[in-house]
Amino acid sequence: MAAPSDVPAGRPAARTTKIAIVGAGAVGSTLAFAALTRGSARTIALHDVNSAKVEAEVLDLRHGLMFTSQAHVIGSDDVAVCADADVVVVTAGAKQKPGQTRLDLAEGTIGLMRQILPGLVEVAPDATYLMVTNPVDVVTYAALQISGLPRERLFGSGTVLDSSRLRAVLAERCGVAVANVHAYIAGEHGDSEIALWSSASIGGVPLLDWEPLAGYPPIDAEVRAQVHREVVDSAYRIIAGKGATNYAVGLAATRIIEAVLKDEGRVMPVSSLLDGYHGIGDVCLSVPSLVDRRGVTSSVPVPMSDDELAGLRASADSVRGVLRRFRF
Ligand code: LAC
Repeated sequence: MAAPSDVPAGRPAARTTKIAIVGAGAVGSTLAFAALTRGSARTIALHDVNSAKVEAEVLDLRHGLMFTSQAHVIGSDDVAVCADADVVVVTAGAKQKPGQTRLDLAEGTIGLMRQILPGLVEVAPDATYLMVTNPVDVVTYAALQISGLPRERLFGSGTVLDSSRLRAVLAERCGVAVANVHAYIAGEHGDSEIALWSSASIGGVPLLDWEPLAGYPPIDAEVRAQVHREVVDSAYRIIAGKGATNYAVGLAATRIIEAVLKDEGRVMPVSSLLDGYHGIGDVCLSVPSLVDRRGVTSSVPVPMSDDELAGLRASADSVRGVLRRFRF
């Protein structure tokens, strides 16, 4: 495929925002579609070693440009297409098979990161890096070590997706709009993730004090346990039905990218290197954190119950156990 160029000849290259998506599989291509339809960046670059796939995805996206805000959509099997991106999003990697846990993917994915990160950092040394590839907490920690990038400029999508799932389920159970539910899933993006019930609220009312609307059940301890289980099992259920998840994770990653590109200072449960968060350190895990143009600049110490704190620590141990297995 011809060498990539994201500025038509004859026009001065205006300073525009560029995201580079590594991996044109279900997640990467959906992310590109979400970014295009939301007008997240002026240039969307797709990179994949499968040149036929990346070329087809780029063509299919370009053919929709009449219906979206103006954007350059480019792609190549040459990593140079990611050059000078503002945000590089890594989605490349094996996908979970039915019944497989995300942590089961660790060995292959760490090897892939060792292969691709040096070349990416060479062409996009100043970018903010968002890891989406699973197991995302392990991948984020390994990628920080492999890339040598500063801790705030490389982080993972973490439990932003899980928190979105939690809010959607709670909104349905309570009969309110998703926008009125504020609740986080924290910890591993995986089986050991926890729901932060004690800081959750619905329409400004603490969730633990929520009085059900007429016709809706109380959100008691039993319902909260069911909701948590439903969130943890979501990916398994979707993968069993359609082979992969892509829509919600694509939207979640796009929303994180926008928080960086627009310097929003948005509090999001992304996965970053913790350094004494409620006494937890030297592991990448999702806790509510500030996301802006510099990346992840600080974590927010939301109040937690003793059970939630114990769950977060157990989640940290689970992720750290896998990292130690691969000598990180
Ligand atoms: C999921 C994948 C992205 O939870 O881990 O859908």
